[in-house]
Amino acid sequence: MHRLWIGSALIVGLIAIGIGSYLFFFSSGSGSLPDGVTRGGQSIASLETTNAAGRPEKTFALTAEEKEWTIEEKERVEAWTYNGTVPGQELRVEQGDFVQVDVTNNLDVPVTIHWHGVNLANNMDGVPGLTQDAVQPGESFTYKFVAEDAGTYWYHSHQHSSRQVDKGLYGPLVVEDPEENEDYEVEETLMLDEWPVHQAKDGPASRQGMMESRRSGDGEADTKDLYDTFTVNGKAGEAIDPLEMEQGETARLRLVNAGFQQHQLAFPEGSAEVIAVDGEATSSNDASADIVEIAPGERIDVAYTKQDQTPVFLGEPGNKEKARDMRIPVLPEGTSRSEAAMASPETETTARGADQSTDTVLFDQVPDPDVSYTMDLSMGMDMGGGGMSFQINGRTFPDTPPIHVQDGDIVKVEIENNGSMNHPMHLHGHDFQIQSQDGTALDQPSVKDLVHVKPGESYTIYFEANNKGEWLFHCHDNNHAELGMSTIVDYDSVYSPYDFGGDAENHPS
Ligand code: C2O
Ligand code: CU
Repeated sequence: MHRLWIGSALIVGLIAIGIGSYLFFFSSGSGSLPDGVTRGGQSIASLETTNAAGRPEKTFALTAEEKEWTIEEKERVEAWTYNGTVPGQELRVEQGDFVQVDVTNNLDVPVTIHWHGVNLANNMDGVPGLTQDAVQPGESFTYKFVAEDAGTYWYHSHQHSSRQVDKGLYGPLVVEDPEENEDYEVEETLMLDEWPVHQAKDGPASRQGMMESRRSGDGEADTKDLYDTFTVNGKAGEAIDPLEMEQGETARLRLVNAGFQQHQLAFPEGSAEVIAVDGEATSSNDASADIVEIAPGERIDVAYTKQDQTPVFLGEPGNKEKARDMRIPVLPEGTSRSEAAMASPETETTARGADQSTDTVLFDQVPDPDVSYTMDLSMGMDMGGGGMSFQINGRTFPDTPPIHVQDGDIVKVEIENNGSMNHPMHLHGHDFQIQSQDGTALDQPSVKDLVHVKPGESYTIYFEANNKGEWLFHCHDNNHAELGMSTIVDYDSVYSPYDFGGDAENHPS
């Protein structure tokens, strides 16, 4: 009896400590940036934002608002949207444009916008508590940046991302290259996502998920539990917009994975070629792919040629529980969805992923690093919470060790996944070069801002510290980031004047 009481008191105590430390980091106003983040001389708030100086200006207004969103007939969700749609309005600009986006928050929670993949000034990066205070209900904020590099990008809230991106606060950003002479008859942006339509999303990752992941081994089990409906541009099943294409036409499909699960799209043999990854053109080594796999947060551009007049679906290949929902009809004139169902591509073909090597490299040779950091990705039980935690070097954010750099440093990061879940690791504000995988040098490196590290895999990446600031480096399964898998690339010469938690309720994951 007595012993039982002590036991329960201990458990209650541990839970209290767990919750207490969580609340401390996300609610206290006590300047609680992670331990070990240095305080340089210059505030990132005073870093120069690129100015318009004679550039063409493109101005947009985005309002964050709640909206009932119809995913498919009878499938409605209470979404959080930019300008009332999921995804939010596509922002299209030309390379070199000065882009200004006024964000107004009509939700009753704070929001921000992060410009995923855009290397802009740190104080425009949209990470609450690190690069700005979250935009409060009823308030506005203006983001400004130069669209330096053509390619496919996207924007999303970075305030409590595991909740806000899940609820629809995202949209595409396309930077066109005015010099590009390749013309495509069709151009479409396809944003992929998952929703919990018929169930409540119970916590970022459940204990059951962890058990299951041990069994299934595809690195996705924890997230599969959480969602029941897959969407393309906010629509599922019959509601997905068809591509209208005739024989011989080629489409540029800009795929963006806004969800927290990896997805695959199967193409008829020999019809698809990967032309860009994370906004970087691929080298044309062997870019043909029958199955294109796209990690959470990743962008992949595909040139897809319609080889005949047969209607087909481009869809998730076989034996996926919810594959029905992610199927994009390709309908030549005079054909229908039901005919496409009959003629869908071979879904059992072995995945032949495309080579992701890029045209441009950051380093011709393996560089000599000034800073080396080993990033050990693992998972464990959350102290007291009963769920999982996702760790970098045995710690959860904000206690993860930062990557300390100085302006101009060459930084080497060796990432290894010692857990049993997939981790698409995304770096803000910089491109990196993937030099080797599992200890073997790639024939040709790949320049990206996200690397999908699967269980047991390791990657060596390099980047140049050429953009002063405090930058997140985190897993883009935002449910994992929420449970700890995040760290900061911390430039010694600057500091962030913002806090996690505080009056602004800054919640960066
Ligand atoms: Cu899509 Cu931290 O970002
Ligand atoms: Cu992860």
